[in-house]
Amino acid sequence: MPAMVEPTGAEALSQQLAEMEAALRSAPDQGALERLRIDYLGRNGALRRQLRSLGAMEAEARRSVGALLNNAQQRLTQALEERRSELDAVVQAQRLAGEREDLSLPGRGQGSGALHPVTQVLERIESLFTSMGFRIAQGPEIEDEEHNFTALNMPPDHPARAMHDTFYLSAKQLLRTHTSPVQIRVLRNEKPPLRVICPGRVYRRDFDISHTPVFHQVEGLWVDSSVNFMELKGVMSDFFRAFFAREKLPVRFRPSYFPFTEPSAEIDIGCLLCSGEGCRSCAHSGWLEVAGCGMVHPAVFGHCGLDAEAYNGFAFGMGVERLSMLHYGIGDLRQLYENDLRFLRQLAWGVQ
Ligand code: DAH
Repeated sequence: MPAMVEPTGAEALSQQLAEMEAALRSAPDQGALERLRIDYLGRNGALRRQLRSLGAMEAEARRSVGALLNNAQQRLTQALEERRSELDAVVQAQRLAGEREDLSLPGRGQGSGALHPVTQVLERIESLFTSMGFRIAQGPEIEDEEHNFTALNMPPDHPARAMHDTFYLSAKQLLRTHTSPVQIRVLRNEKPPLRVICPGRVYRRDFDISHTPVFHQVEGLWVDSSVNFMELKGVMSDFFRAFFAREKLPVRFRPSYFPFTEPSAEIDIGCLLCSGEGCRSCAHSGWLEVAGCGMVHPAVFGHCGLDAEAYNGFAFGMGVERLSMLHYGIGDLRQLYENDLRFLRQLAWGVQ
């Protein structure tokens, strides 16, 4: 920048002022411009020093140099402002250029939610049974011993109680260990004929590869004046063939024991993976256990105030997680509840 020296005359001063104006107009960036402003127009800048020196001048020189300096101050200020807005525009343009949208970047997408696989399986079970004339009934998850056990023909000392791994809340209250107590509520509140399924959450103190402390069951109950085991077999076979979408799926009824049914059976389907050949999934038996069932025990009717001579019926119960695992081919039940979205997403579209 041109150093300001004492003017040797009006011409030299004009010359210097013109150089200063030119320097302002060509400042390369905002920083340089700011330094020039301080040097020329700042409180201790060149122009102020010139103005301060006016006092020592002759009156005539003071007038003409004063006018020159006033005029210069205006022009320099204007030059400063014009250059400042030019440089601001340059900086702004650079910033915008850097911020330009890159349209080739992949979008962030819009995540769409889906029902949890267990919910989807539950809905599928419900819709298949409602299409067969069953209604949905519900009961409380906090149950009492009487509904959960006693009325289901499991008196206090019954050994089957020990198999339920019950969460007790108090001596009489518990978290229901199965959906069968809803049968009792329905039988006590409604008059047969009736056909209900009772889907819901159940609780047991159990946690391993195929058990979680909270899981879901669907209970079924069909009561009328003459329902027989053949109908039970027909309803359950139709259901499992529809659920797994296999018309020829083998279904067998294996004698078993439940306190609330007599006779009782366990329902097996032909292994979905090996079609009966025997594989790891079916423990080389060719069969997969999918439900329990039987004809309602006369004692259960008795506990509900119904005449066991006038009515009969069948009941069944199945685990929803178990059916989900078979439907989706999942090896570890706990995966369903770990909420790993990558896992859940793979299953979200698996059920039609
Ligand atoms: N409540 C049984 C359980 O939790 C399942 C069950 C078996 C229900 C046979 C039934 C039935 O209604 O008839 O293991």
